[in-house]
Amino acid sequence: MTTRYLTGITTTGTPHLGNYVGAIRPAIAASRRSDADGFFFLADYHALIKSDDPVRIARSRLEIAATWLACGLDPQRVTFYRQSDIPEIPELTWMLTCVTAKGLLNRAHAYKAAVDQNAAKGEDPDAAITAGLYMYPVLMAADILLFNADKVPVGRDQVQHVEMTRDIGQRFNHIHGKAWRAAGGDGEPFVLPEVAIEESVATLPGLDGRKMSKSYDNTVPLFEGGAKALREAIAKIVTDSREPGEPKDPDSSSLFAIYRAFAGDAESATFRKELEAGMGWGDAKKKLCERIEQDIAPLRERYDALMAHPDDIEDALREGAKKARAVAMPRLEIMRRAVGLGPLAAPGGKTRAAKKTDKRARIVSFRDSEGFRFRLLGADGEELLLSRAFADPKAAGQATRALSSDGAADALKPIDASRFALLQENETLATSAEFAELIARDAAIERTRAALASLREAAD
Ligand code: TRP
Repeated sequence: MTTRYLTGITTTGTPHLGNYVGAIRPAIAASRRSDADGFFFLADYHALIKSDDPVRIARSRLEIAATWLACGLDPQRVTFYRQSDIPEIPELTWMLTCVTAKGLLNRAHAYKAAVDQNAAKGEDPDAAITAGLYMYPVLMAADILLFNADKVPVGRDQVQHVEMTRDIGQRFNHIHGKAWRAAGGDGEPFVLPEVAIEESVATLPGLDGRKMSKSYDNTVPLFEGGAKALREAIAKIVTDSREPGEPKDPDSSSLFAIYRAFAGDAESATFRKELEAGMGWGDAKKKLCERIEQDIAPLRERYDALMAHPDDIEDALREGAKKARAVAMPRLEIMRRAVGLGPLAAPGGKTRAAKKTDKRARIVSFRDSEGFRFRLLGADGEELLLSRAFADPKAAGQATRALSSDGAADALKPIDASRFALLQENETLATSAEFAELIARDAAIERTRAALASLREAAD
């Protein structure tokens, strides 16, 4: 049995050393375990709640995606996607909103803190508070529940949100569980997730000794600005006024705490002795810099290469969205029926679409400025293939007929099991029809194969 881990990263900032040590490094290590099924996503809808600056959000999305990939997240192995590429998330958010108690949201820490701040200033309690901030926990619940995550690795500040996710999921299960099963769903609509806090991962202190955090403006950048920015930030770490030669107390120094987050036990012990023996702060900072560089310089090189090719990152994210939607779409389909938003049916009667004969793929022909084309649509209306443009409608018709011929379904083979792609230069395709020029769009191979098989069945 694998455990599904899911976590999102709000795209409002530039990754810093604290993010690396506290979240990125442990998450990537965990994603390599064979019993883990990792879902990682850029929480860019959440970013809209925190910032109305499009340039900042766009930049942060790119930097965060490049950072995770540069640090070794393997998009073949995990599902790495962008929240805003999954329309099922906002759709589910609304369904969840309608079962969420308003009182539950009133108790959310982030909302309450904003209200308290207003009260302290003598303002209206809801002054400058958006409905987005208020709804934040429901959007997060949709992120998690949509994919039936078992574990949600987050920082302590997010624990309440995961608890609220359980509350909301449980309520939906209670209200709609029966209808979910009647609509063909298994068990309960939602797994109730558990929060996963890495106890062994220390939070990194920042330049001033408080927790390293963007909100304290005390961070050390991970990659941005290169080795120079790293050096300059480390030079700003606050130390006491002991001179070189005077013994230092490693345990009260953020410099030592940061060093320890990178070095092994033996190295750290040496560094500790050197500080105790009077190493000057300047030398200590130089050593710290070198130690961090040893780990992150190779990663930074990959980061810079990725940042120079945003299209490659875009491609990886789109592939990830396909994988994620292959999980999300069938679940939402059942969810819609469960809440009463499925296809129309006579009162008490069966819906048409529920009958097997209607679970058929179809081909839709159309004409655009380039010529005659057709689409292959799956049973649920999803576009699986888009043909090239034919100059002649007869040729297009021939190609559509060939689609339901023997071998058409078999000709689709995944290039590799973990990726959805069409084998475009398949001989059967190239010779028996014009399939070789069909372009796979948003199509999971298995679904395309099933659609082709059902076309044949209909033709027989
Ligand atoms: N709210 C989280 C944060 O700011 C980000 C997030 C959004 C998230 N959706 C999530 C984390 C789902 C875990 C699971 O850190």
